[in-house]
Amino acid sequence: MQQPDADVRFFREMYRELRGRGPKLLREDFCGSFGVCCEWVKLGPGYRAYGRDLGAAPLAYGRKTFLPKLTPEQRSRVRIERKDVLAPGGPKSDLIMAMNFSYFVFKERAALKAYFKNCRRNLRPGGVLAMDCFGGGGVHRPNKESTVHPRFTYYWEQYDYDPVYNTARCAMHFKPKGGRKVRDVFTYDWRVWTLAEIRELLAEAGFRRSHVYWEGDDGRRGNGKFARDENGGREEIWIAMVAAEK
Ligand SMILES: C[S@@+](CC[C@H](N)C(=O)[O-])C[C@H]1O[C@@H](n2cnc3c(N)ncnc32)[C@H](O)[C@@H]1O
Repeated sequence: MQQPDADVRFFREMYRELRGRGPKLLREDFCGSFGVCCEWVKLGPGYRAYGRDLGAAPLAYGRKTFLPKLTPEQRSRVRIERKDVLAPGGPKSDLIMAMNFSYFVFKERAALKAYFKNCRRNLRPGGVLAMDCFGGGGVHRPNKESTVHPRFTYYWEQYDYDPVYNTARCAMHFKPKGGRKVRDVFTYDWRVWTLAEIRELLAEAGFRRSHVYWEGDDGRRGNGKFARDENGGREEIWIAMVAAEK
């Protein structure tokens, strides 16, 4: 699950480290309930956010839940569109974020390359595309994990793995404290892209360079802190971030 406030700080820092200046205009592709956009505009008056998603339900949830928590001035710096991420248009951005492995929805090389090309077109010169990725030997078989939060327990389950197409069906379940577990609240049918494939496609789409960031751990599980490194990924299942420079 995303932690939009931590994500925007991490990606702003990552951009600064790569570009030597701060990003101002963020594009959040597959924005869903656009929590990241809402956190972005809270960073300061010069920060603007543009979010895009095809789903009416998550967009409506964001309008009901997150937008009202912003001040009118902050709200004026958020723009959301219900549109395919492959469609042209939208403002040219400093930073594009494609989080929650959402681009895994593209199952074929040509489709992912077309998406990366579109991202490149939507970036200002020197802009950065950032996304998360998961992998490791553990994703080659069914797996699950749970995290207890104060008001609910969150479950992640990967149902299967297809070695021919490198695809997996995954789901999120939730159990409110004292309530019954609700299964398959969100379900995904994904191609599990490898970092090597992603970086090759980024280069083919015209990105100058790409970098991998690995998550640190607190001894038991990932701690949500990522550092640039070409030698990570020893865990059974890992999460990494990828950043590509235009
Ligand atoms: C894994 S969810 C990401 C949710 C989002 N990051 C959030 O926190 O609410 C994937 C999202 O991608 C959207 N989506 C899938 N294919 C899309 C496409 N081609 N163009 C735009 N949005 C798409 C879905 O509607 C869904 O909201």
